[in-house]
Amino acid sequence: MTTGTLLILDHAIAVLTVIAWFAAAGTAATRSKPAFLLLVVALVVTAVRMVAIVPLAGRGWWFVEEKVLFGLPILGVAAVAAAVLAGPRLRAVARSRETTRSGDTTAGVVALFAAAFAALVSFVVAFVIGYPLTLPTALIAVAALVAATMLTARVLTNPEENKPESEERAPTAAELNRRRFLGVAGGVVAVGAAGTGIGLALTSGASTTQGGGPGPASVPTISIADLRGLQDPAPGGVVRTQLVTARKAMVKLESGREIDALTFDGTLPGPPITATQGDVIEVRLRNQDIDDGVTLHWHGYDVPCSQDGAEGLTQDTVRPGGEFVYRFRADQVGTYWYHTHHSSHVNVRRGLYGTLIVKPREEDDRGALDLPLAVHTFDDGATVISGGGEHVAAPGTKVRLRLINTDSDPHRFALSGTPFTLVAVDGRDLNGPGEISEQILRLVAGGRYDVVFTMPAEPVVLSLDEGKATVWVSPRGGRRDDTAAGPDTRAWPELDLLAYGTPAPVALRHETANRNFTLVLGRGLAMVDGSPSYAQTVNGLGHPSIPDQLVAEGDTVRFTVVNRSLETHPWHLHGHPVLVLSRDGVPASGSPLWVDTFDVRPGEVWEVAFKAGNPGIWMNHCHNLPHVDQGMMLRLRYDGVVSPFGGGHSGHHD
Ligand code: C2O
Ligand code: CU
Repeated sequence: MTTGTLLILDHAIAVLTVIAWFAAAGTAATRSKPAFLLLVVALVVTAVRMVAIVPLAGRGWWFVEEKVLFGLPILGVAAVAAAVLAGPRLRAVARSRETTRSGDTTAGVVALFAAAFAALVSFVVAFVIGYPLTLPTALIAVAALVAATMLTARVLTNPEENKPESEERAPTAAELNRRRFLGVAGGVVAVGAAGTGIGLALTSGASTTQGGGPGPASVPTISIADLRGLQDPAPGGVVRTQLVTARKAMVKLESGREIDALTFDGTLPGPPITATQGDVIEVRLRNQDIDDGVTLHWHGYDVPCSQDGAEGLTQDTVRPGGEFVYRFRADQVGTYWYHTHHSSHVNVRRGLYGTLIVKPREEDDRGALDLPLAVHTFDDGATVISGGGEHVAAPGTKVRLRLINTDSDPHRFALSGTPFTLVAVDGRDLNGPGEISEQILRLVAGGRYDVVFTMPAEPVVLSLDEGKATVWVSPRGGRRDDTAAGPDTRAWPELDLLAYGTPAPVALRHETANRNFTLVLGRGLAMVDGSPSYAQTVNGLGHPSIPDQLVAEGDTVRFTVVNRSLETHPWHLHGHPVLVLSRDGVPASGSPLWVDTFDVRPGEVWEVAFKAGNPGIWMNHCHNLPHVDQGMMLRLRYDGVVSPFGGGHSGHHD
């Protein structure tokens, strides 16, 4: 069973526990016969819950911490108390001939409600708070439990509700005193715990984590603005200057559909930015009328930090009428893309994106067909492959498809009609990739695949998400038969990148990391940009409260990324490719896999490593861009680097 399934199962059983205990308590309160049976059911479900987390615990402490340390102990204690206090009487009721009522069951009923509240608190803490369990959380949860139980006791012991025909006698003075004492003591506990918890929760935590490495050693020594990198082309290279204007436009897509878009240069996608390795790319970005403001982020391209386009961190946003000139040397070959990094959860989707392709200087690709295919979904939900449609290639032609996912969700590609080779992932060549066929290529949000094949005598069809869109490459040209949708690819297995290609030694794989950071991705209550929300969280926190990760130049850094939530999180670090080490404890066994975005599906645990060789302060976030808006973003900070652009509430926001 996958960890994701176990997580869902745990939530489901937790809900059942809550229902079972409330049912037992409710029926016991009305003194009806099924109460005893329901108590037994509640105890059984509780036991199942305790057993069911054992396999989950086996997948990692992050998945069970708050249950093992808090939720299940309080539920266990409350369940035993309820069984002891209520069990014998409910059993007697169940066995008596009368349909309802018997002696004083108040204590038992209160205990049953306490167990129900404990089950509820345990579920809420797991579902809404998650990892890590903190003292404030535990205190507030205990306070809620005590307060709810007291309130129940109070309602149930209200003398007016003691029916005259009941066999209860009036409480003695001593009993009243005891009750009063318990009430006051419980109240003090609840108020005290809640107060302390809220107080602790509001004291802000550390602003950096060091991952086990040394703390900040030096005073700030360099500003991001000064991290500019190489300014001149390599021998044989040129400076490629380009003006790109961000503006609103109505754009007609190939399908004929009109989109009210935000664009670069009035086109969707924006103008292709291309270079040969060693050229200098210089783009003058002008904002004509994008009210939110705009920047250019070169996704997956390891530019010097000042050119990274992270609004509020590496530059100010470019306001209407403003300009910013990006300049960096294109030493990295491959398929990349660019997009705005300001309010990106809305504005990338509306059209502020384009492709960036750098070809090797030595390559002779004359006669080859090279197709950048950027997949994008617009606000109306329709997905297009720009550069798609139909293409002609004579048999024997070398064809290269550059698949680019500019969306926030993964896409599935199926290439039929020919065997093919996946030669590069995220712009970086794989080692010894083998020829494959009839396998689905699942492409992470923000990711790129370069697929090559030799054109056969029959058409080749690339199909997106089981036919949402198709690209045809045919040997003869002429219009294809519209009824031919390509073969049914639904049963094809998904290619596992971690086992694809040929292994090769990489020093980084075996180096002991100087810094180890764990990022537990979850969903829960957290502060995001100063307001409480149901956030997408990292280690229980939302941006900008998530501590910066501190590294020093030359460090070997390891990330363990754990997904405790029920959604997929495409994790993306700016400025560095990461080497995938393992997924769910299984080491990557194929070609060394360098990526800039990796898809952490529910329950998965990924280990990746990288060399800290590109000084700066870098965004580190989920590339499901709406998740960024909901808090799932932090920064990786090189020791000594400071940002002149605020740097606090940075990236993606307005
Ligand atoms: Cu493509 Cu910070 O993103
Ligand atoms: Cu996410």
